[in-house]
Amino acid sequence: MENETVIALNNVTVRLRGRTVLDDVSLEVKKGEFVAVLGPNGAGKSMLLKLLLGLLKQAEGSVVVLGRPPRRGNRDIGYAPQHRALEADLALRARDIVGFGLDGNRWGIGLASRKRDELIDSVLKEMDVQHLGDAPVAQLSGGEQQRVLIAQALITDPEILLLDEPLSNLDITHAREVILLLTKRLCPSKQEAAHICRERKVTILLVTHDINPLLPVVDKVLYMSNGRGMMGTPEEIITSDALSKLYRTRVEVIRSGGRVFVAGAET
Ligand SMILES: Nc1ncnc2c1ncn2[C@@H]1O[C@H](COP(=O)(O)OP(=O)(O)OP(=O)(O)O)[C@@H](O)[C@H]1O
Ligand SMILES: [Mg+2]
Repeated sequence: MENETVIALNNVTVRLRGRTVLDDVSLEVKKGEFVAVLGPNGAGKSMLLKLLLGLLKQAEGSVVVLGRPPRRGNRDIGYAPQHRALEADLALRARDIVGFGLDGNRWGIGLASRKRDELIDSVLKEMDVQHLGDAPVAQLSGGEQQRVLIAQALITDPEILLLDEPLSNLDITHAREVILLLTKRLCPSKQEAAHICRERKVTILLVTHDINPLLPVVDKVLYMSNGRGMMGTPEEIITSDALSKLYRTRVEVIRSGGRVFVAGAET
């Protein structure tokens, strides 16, 4: 269905140990949208994803994901946590890490091991790291580890992908490669450019500190600061006026050579 809302937050406030980490956030994401989530350290980006995963509960407001309140272990949502989450698992093989994406939901457990292996191989291949399945994660480069985490998020063929800084550790060439692989999933018929794709398959929220490599492919940006959020097209949101309002201080947006730079605020 076109224009179906898959994520809706209405006046959501989240408090953790007395701290307000999301502050009256309202937003709507439509099926098939590619949304970049931006904002300085501590802005609440990761907490927003955890809220959608049912790992946190709001103190106020309402959250609806795919027509229901968030719940843990929802196989319709694929999640790649921020990179440092791998550190405890460095001795494991890449394919074990990817397999975790199947556990914790109904059909992962008891899945015939051959079927399981096939699924793992297919998502490793999709992320172009099929040759690294048996390598211990500790031996992989930072960029390869990111791809393994994304493969884990893809394994249940989810409707929503929540990717927390999947481009950190990547140089610009590798960042572009990963973005290309993601847009293929967004729009499987490869003839069409993602932005004119009609049959969009997944909805993506991708946390990043650099919007530039994503500018050609994202539909919307969600800018966060101090638990507050502002969402719209890049043209609407990445402007001096809009960001100054969000940050509550003067911010200058500089556009140069098709790139944007936000000056006067940490991103
Ligand atoms: N369990 C917790 N208890 C109290 N405060 C928390 C908890 N978890 C996170 N916070 C706080 O919530 C705020 C938002 O954190 P969050 O991890 O969402 O930031 P972020 O935007 O993802 O930042 P970064 O770019 O550094 O990843 C931070 O100030 C953080 O200290
Ligand atoms: Mg974070």
